[in-house]
Amino acid sequence: MTKQEIIISDNIGRSLAAAVGICPHDRLFVLADETTERLCLPLIAGQDCMREAQKIVVGATDVNKTLDTVAHIWTELGRLGATRHSLMINLGGGMVTDLGGFAASTFKRGISYINIPTTLLSMVDASVGGKTGINFNGLKNEIGVFNNARSVILDTGFLKTMDSENILSGYAEMLKHGLISDERMWAELMSFDLDTPDLDRLRTMVADSVKVKERIVEQDPTERGLRKALNFGHTAGHAFESIAMRCGTPILHGYAVAAGMICELYLSALKTGFPTNRMRQTVAFIAENYGRMPITCDDYPELFELMTHDKKNVAGTINFTLLGGIGDIRIDQTATKEEIYEALDFYREGCI
Ligand code: GLY
Repeated sequence: MTKQEIIISDNIGRSLAAAVGICPHDRLFVLADETTERLCLPLIAGQDCMREAQKIVVGATDVNKTLDTVAHIWTELGRLGATRHSLMINLGGGMVTDLGGFAASTFKRGISYINIPTTLLSMVDASVGGKTGINFNGLKNEIGVFNNARSVILDTGFLKTMDSENILSGYAEMLKHGLISDERMWAELMSFDLDTPDLDRLRTMVADSVKVKERIVEQDPTERGLRKALNFGHTAGHAFESIAMRCGTPILHGYAVAAGMICELYLSALKTGFPTNRMRQTVAFIAENYGRMPITCDDYPELFELMTHDKKNVAGTINFTLLGGIGDIRIDQTATKEEIYEALDFYREGCI
């Protein structure tokens, strides 16, 4: 995969001009969803480099991350005269960057694209690292390709109007990056005031957080080994996310990952020697900021079943990424049903 340029921006106009400038193209397109068209597109539409841009708009939220929506984007690109030398800007959260990245990567065997993530979650996770794709047959991110954006512009100015739940959702992935990285980053994350976030400080922390992901993805772009570190908290987290969805009370991805990290920190302490004091400090921080999902023992069989169907598993064995300490990554770990139930007890009974 070609390397992607990460631009830490405090001036979106200048950053966009620079990103478009280094990517020769004949036509320029901007993909937005109905929300980012209204709230974010006006922030870039007045820039000189955007004068030539043609707009493609899709429905907002994950329900639109479908093959039909990709077909709509391909159709619009064709109708508006896109060629193999065209460039697309994806302006939005993870849904738009995943979907737009996939549409761009497959149109005429691939045109270049730039990501401008507008949520904290997509800044620190989805928009970086070349995973693109759509949901298919009821399965999340079932179809897709690995293909890097030419540039990713990270501008925390978009967060000024973001609600605290969405800040927290992205922050869970930052916490994960701290846990798989080093004590310094972990301590900084644990001391950040999420009730009144300081956006200048958050900008620096986002830049540090993305470097963790970049470093890992550079070594293992297609998730053969080390990239599995980024799945910490996600095996249990995806099960929490799915059960909430099935109950008709969907939760934001980061909240599910935060719950998943509690379970997987417990398993890390139990199985790979993660220090108990660090586990308790992290769990207390998560419980205080994210609360707890109201699961009961009756949910355990379904949560376990969901974990056995996680797409990271090989031959039906549940695959966890655990930690031997902060920054001590242990990929390809498994756990028995009893151990997993114990971790769920730990989560349910108030953790600390
Ligand atoms: N979201 C995890 C990854 O990009 O690998």
